[in-house]
Amino acid sequence: MRYDEDLLKEYFCEAPKDISLDDVDMARVPGHVSIIMDGNGRWATARGLDRSQGHVAGVDSLREAVTTSVRLGLDVLSVYAFSTENWKRPQKEVNLLMHLFATTLVHELPLFHQENVRLRFFGDLTALPVETREVFQKGLDETADHDGMTFALAVNYGSRAEIARAARELAAEVAAGERDADTIDADAVAGHLYTRGLPDPDLLIRTSGELRLSNYLLWQLAYSEFYVTPTLWPDFSRWDMLRAIKSYQSRERRFGGVK
Ligand code: FPP
Repeated sequence: MRYDEDLLKEYFCEAPKDISLDDVDMARVPGHVSIIMDGNGRWATARGLDRSQGHVAGVDSLREAVTTSVRLGLDVLSVYAFSTENWKRPQKEVNLLMHLFATTLVHELPLFHQENVRLRFFGDLTALPVETREVFQKGLDETADHDGMTFALAVNYGSRAEIARAARELAAEVAAGERDADTIDADAVAGHLYTRGLPDPDLLIRTSGELRLSNYLLWQLAYSEFYVTPTLWPDFSRWDMLRAIKSYQSRERRFGGVK
């Protein structure tokens, strides 16, 4: 996608020793970067703070990740904000997260307008508190005409449930005589996932060092490059994003073929 050369240089001007904008080939920036934002709780605990403070600090990192992605000209930034398993957390933490999602979206709407960012959500939003859903809808409505970067948030998202839902929908189409079972191919399945219409991620970043997918985009990540950093999410900065993209650009993507 488009990026503004001057804004980009200014944004990345005070480089640390190990990484700078020159380390990245702007002609080969990934189109879609997806992030599993992990480590908020550990970040807070290490500082003697309540876990909720880690999530609050995580909002600042997320805001920076959005701006960084716009500056770099990404087409899509997607993030795993809340999984179907996260309901098992203490009620107080779940309430805080739902509140944080809603207040953050309202607060950041001017940024989305300024940067021409279009919002999108994926997951089962029907289970969310009504005020959270209303704010999400307002965010969708107000950014629907933006044609810059898409910022997609996975909320109450679980990949297995998503794939099962796609299978149910396809089965229903066959049962209703609307579709021949032989037409169910990878494109048909992808067209029934929450992420339909979004390109698959080119690069998946996971913070806090865990080497697992945690039921995230199991279908869509089939050929994505992975980058895992020990950095905890509240410490993740624009420079970590550059490090991840530099690593991505050193990979040889073969999509199962040979070079
Ligand atoms: C994982 O850290 C993080 C989450 C489950 C929530 C992510 C939420 C934010 C970054 C807050 C802002 C988000 C939006 C969309 C406004 P963890 O709690 O699992 O950390 P731990 O593994 O160290 O316990």
